[in-house]
Amino acid sequence: MIPELSNPSVCMSDPQRVEEIIEAIQKAGPNTLQVISDFDMTLTRFAYNGKRCPTCHNILDNSKLISEEGKSQLKELLHTYYPIEIDTNRPVEEKQPLMVEWWTKAHELLVQEHIKKDLLQEAVRESDAMLREGYQLFFDHLQEHSVPLLIFSAGIGDVLEEVIRQAGVFHPNVNVISNYMDFDETGTLKAFKGELIHIYNKREGALLNTGHFQELKSRHNVLLLGDSLGDLTMADGVHSMENILKIGFLNDKVEERMSCYVNAYDIVLVKDETMVVPNAILHHLTSAK
Ligand code: TMP
Ligand code: MG
Repeated sequence: MIPELSNPSVCMSDPQRVEEIIEAIQKAGPNTLQVISDFDMTLTRFAYNGKRCPTCHNILDNSKLISEEGKSQLKELLHTYYPIEIDTNRPVEEKQPLMVEWWTKAHELLVQEHIKKDLLQEAVRESDAMLREGYQLFFDHLQEHSVPLLIFSAGIGDVLEEVIRQAGVFHPNVNVISNYMDFDETGTLKAFKGELIHIYNKREGALLNTGHFQELKSRHNVLLLGDSLGDLTMADGVHSMENILKIGFLNDKVEERMSCYVNAYDIVLVKDETMVVPNAILHHLTSAK
């Protein structure tokens, strides 16, 4: 049906079911579709030329906005908590409080650095952040077909927006739910706004953003893109969901996480740094039956 689904990076536990979901969404048409995507390591690359690419947080951590002391503390947090984030042997309930701990400590450290709002642009420009190959087509295609894209990220909203703005793809159909910085009257970071979003509370985040999902209430079909098992709950705020196709990027610790991922996601893309498969699916979903 879609030749790209035979690409070597694609793993599916039930290809027949994938075909049925795609057919159902295509039949309902693009007016019934919304796309919900994670940001870090889903829309952005995990690695380039063998080197890890930064998350929103890492963009700041690696920038000249952070002191050497701050950098080493943030790195230590990453080395402590990232292995916990991706450990499939620990239940989510056990990981949740530890993720709150990570995000809280990291945000406290960032606040201590007195980050200036007007320097964020430069920090993003000088960073190694990279959107996945084929991102332009992905964003442009959704915009052309008036399909809303929600970027739902436990990263930092201000940084994420700057990445997509600099890439020229922050189109009007894009909405973002994320952690936003709160600046004082001098433009210095003083706190983070609203409820914290971390990797394992996206369900709660979705349920708090009722306004967004209310506006899209006639769109009962969802294409979900994520790279973490926590991303699977991003669509929990969608009104009377009819069909959902879940695509998961499996970037790291492939062997130990494979079985969890193929059970949880309809399509798993293994070490695939491109948007080739999502783009092919989108092309199919928005073509006339
Ligand atoms: P995402 O929801 O857009 O994928 O963003 C969450 C990612 O951010 C998650 O994989 C962990 C990462 N992260 C850092 O790299 N550094 C940090 O200090 C924190 C709190 C999270
Ligand atoms: Mg992610």
